[in-house]
Amino acid sequence: MERSWWKEAVIYQVYLRSFQDSNGDGVGDIGGIIQRLDYLQKLGVTVLWLNPCYPSPDVDNGYDISDYCGISPKFGTLDQFDELLRQVHARGMKLIMDLVVNHTSDQHPWFQQSRSSKENPYRDYYIWRKGKNGAPPNNWGSHFTPSVWEYDPATDEYYLHLFAKEQPDLNWENPEVRQQVWKIMRFWLDKGVDGFRMDVINLIKKPEGLPDSPLPATCAEGYTFDCDLYANNPGLTDFYREMKREVLDHYPVMTVGETAKVTPEFALDYVGEPERLLSMVFHFQIVELRDNFTWGGFKAIQRKWVDALWSKGWSSQFLQNHDQPRCVSVYGDDGEYHVQSAKMLGTLLHTLPGTPYVYQGEELGMTNTAFTSIDQYNDINAKFDYQELLAKGKTPEQALAVLNRYSRDHARTPMQWTDGSNAGFTEGQPWLMVNPNYPAINAEQQENDPDSVLNYYRALIRLRKEHPVMVYGEFQEYEPEREDVYLYTRSLDGERWLIALNLTGRPVEAKRPVEGEYQVLLANYPDPDVQGESLHLRPWEAVICCL
Ligand code: GLC
Repeated sequence: MERSWWKEAVIYQVYLRSFQDSNGDGVGDIGGIIQRLDYLQKLGVTVLWLNPCYPSPDVDNGYDISDYCGISPKFGTLDQFDELLRQVHARGMKLIMDLVVNHTSDQHPWFQQSRSSKENPYRDYYIWRKGKNGAPPNNWGSHFTPSVWEYDPATDEYYLHLFAKEQPDLNWENPEVRQQVWKIMRFWLDKGVDGFRMDVINLIKKPEGLPDSPLPATCAEGYTFDCDLYANNPGLTDFYREMKREVLDHYPVMTVGETAKVTPEFALDYVGEPERLLSMVFHFQIVELRDNFTWGGFKAIQRKWVDALWSKGWSSQFLQNHDQPRCVSVYGDDGEYHVQSAKMLGTLLHTLPGTPYVYQGEELGMTNTAFTSIDQYNDINAKFDYQELLAKGKTPEQALAVLNRYSRDHARTPMQWTDGSNAGFTEGQPWLMVNPNYPAINAEQQENDPDSVLNYYRALIRLRKEHPVMVYGEFQEYEPEREDVYLYTRSLDGERWLIALNLTGRPVEAKRPVEGEYQVLLANYPDPDVQGESLHLRPWEAVICCL
């Protein structure tokens, strides 16, 4: 298998508005990231992924961009960005940007022009249609509003927005739009950025004719949110191919596509060698299990992806991001076994095949927050879901209970640096509440504790850097049907490692999959019991052994 830096990388996601504030306005910024580069370097991560930091009205926290080649004054200046990039590179790390080009902000000059008249040269930059008998052109439901269509009285037509109405979708069928996107990409790549995380990049191709969804309504207003219809449409890869030819082929960079509704079969079209249109994608099959999550389901999905992609294309691993609740609260135990389960999850993340993505605070085992009122939420998605739940007859308490499980704001509470005021995130008023558990869970305290989650993540990352078997080793699973343990080996050039994970809060026992003496390389308990006939694993125990 061809080796490359982005396969060996450990990528750290910086949701900068919540990472570190350097000027006391309550919002994280570029200056704050620069202050924390020592921390990131010591953690060992090799690539930073910056969430959008461009000028934006912030209807969807920066995913509604009004100027693609600038830096939002909230976060700093372009000069500061250049300084950040210089310092990141000076430390031997790399930096990738978020490319959000399925849609723009409605404040972007292209859209302002587009909506001004039907004859405007920018009209065709967006997707405009006439209504049907006084109703929207089709029955599509949006992520953040009932319909994807917004009526614009100025020209008596509707424009399409798969997300908020302030996020109109670009018309990728227009070659001029594509040229504009290539220009934006070159602007950042010429500065020296090392690639892109591409926002909802499998939604840019709309299905021919924008047909109605055949499925029943999913929202109270009668529209159907049908992401399978919006995603992975025929012709999508032609856009990727053009992007590669026009831009990516000319720079030594990586890309990761955010691709909901991607199956391994679709993924192969995007990341398959030798064409490799994208370096890798994020799939959401585990996230999409939601209330039906089981470890059996998790394992089955991992197996399916390894079977389909092994030596044909690369993959990624993530347990959370800025759109998902905190992984230790969802998959682990944020109570009694907080530390053990956070470390077990970290072990999983770094030892399964694919490039691992660590989301800020995950390396501390940061947890979900118990929000007690809808006013404490910031996220447009939480507000929409709340209204929809009420419209479907839930009480405010029931609606809040749903949000408290899945809200994106869980991931967005400020980074917990210290036990001081606002967790050391800001000297001002934080834009989103700090999780009240910061006196117990913070970086400063974990720095000095050799058994902390932070120090365990450091050890995992170090191990991954030192041992190619962890990156390139062939994956073999044992006792795949078991829900309570995860046992697999990674093998490369005669070296063989076993990863044994207890997926529960109870002790479990498993047959040793391979004879011989095991050398323990890393574990989340002292003295793992792995030499006898069976492996005895304590609650959420994780052991990495060399066989
Ligand atoms: C992606 C982003 C999410 C955003 C959406 C619309 O899913 O991760 O935060 O709301 O795209 O841009």
